[in-house]
Amino acid sequence: MIQEYEPEATRRAASDTESSRASRGWWDRNADEYQNEHGAFLGDDRFVWGPEGLDEAEAGLLGPAAELKGRRVLEIGAGAAQCSRWLAAQGARPVALDLSHRQLQHALRIGTDARPDGDGPEPGVSQAVALVEADAGALPFRDASFDLACSAYGAIPFVADPVRVMREVRRVLRPGGRWVFSVTHPIRWAFPDEPGPEGLSVGASYFDRTPYVEQDEAGRAVYVEHHRTLGDRVRDVAAADFRLVDLVEPEWPEWNNQEWGGWSPLRGNLIPGTAIFVCVAD
Ligand SMILES: C[S@@+](CC[C@H](N)C(=O)[O-])C[C@H]1O[C@@H](n2cnc3c(N)ncnc32)[C@H](O)[C@@H]1O
Repeated sequence: MIQEYEPEATRRAASDTESSRASRGWWDRNADEYQNEHGAFLGDDRFVWGPEGLDEAEAGLLGPAAELKGRRVLEIGAGAAQCSRWLAAQGARPVALDLSHRQLQHALRIGTDARPDGDGPEPGVSQAVALVEADAGALPFRDASFDLACSAYGAIPFVADPVRVMREVRRVLRPGGRWVFSVTHPIRWAFPDEPGPEGLSVGASYFDRTPYVEQDEAGRAVYVEHHRTLGDRVRDVAAADFRLVDLVEPEWPEWNNQEWGGWSPLRGNLIPGTAIFVCVAD
């Protein structure tokens, strides 16, 4: 009989290698549940920046949708590539990259299911996107091979060295290209990750950067999240040679009554849940 082991939650250092290994394993094991739970909210080919539901179609953080046609776009930590599918529907040429094989299998499944004969996406409904299984810390692309790069909660919150990832993004972007990424708003680190009233009282130091780690019996990390303060994130962007042109904190919209983990209407109306960094490679 297989014994189910409940991982132990702790706060401790976690290297880049350990973090990547933990992320790959965790997302491979949990991709089915993630897509099952959040797939309907994400939509098969919408581009949603986070649990508030801010949609790129209305936000235009990558630039006006009408100007996406023909653009080469790299999506980092793409999961099932919903955002890339929306980009493809605008005429862009997206590449969806993720560390997790299972997440990318969902990208294949959605792309295939979208067509009635199951043979691939129906033209104009859901477009095929290129899928690449790789670590965001070592991008398998030539210099200056993309016009835009984006990430909706992909990779950045899970890596020990976000500057390394952003330097890689900077390398593969052409000069003048945009890099837009969303992460958990740093203020959330100070609060318990609970959607109800218990998630409204500060319980930890905002300034404590010690990673959140879930580990197995042998002390191996099986899930890692890294915290950066808002100032850290701004410095990371600058260290990777990007210019920050906007920092978007989406407000919780009235229409959204869905909880997503610790994100809820209750908390969303009081404190920000997502931070979106809009950067340019000068
Ligand atoms: C919260 S999910 C977001 C997925 C998708 N962007 C969405 O909005 O549903 C985070 C994704 O980042 C991926 N990821 C984590 N660490 C990564 C890394 N080092 N390199 C590439 N992808 C990574 C995970 O496999 C997972 O699919």
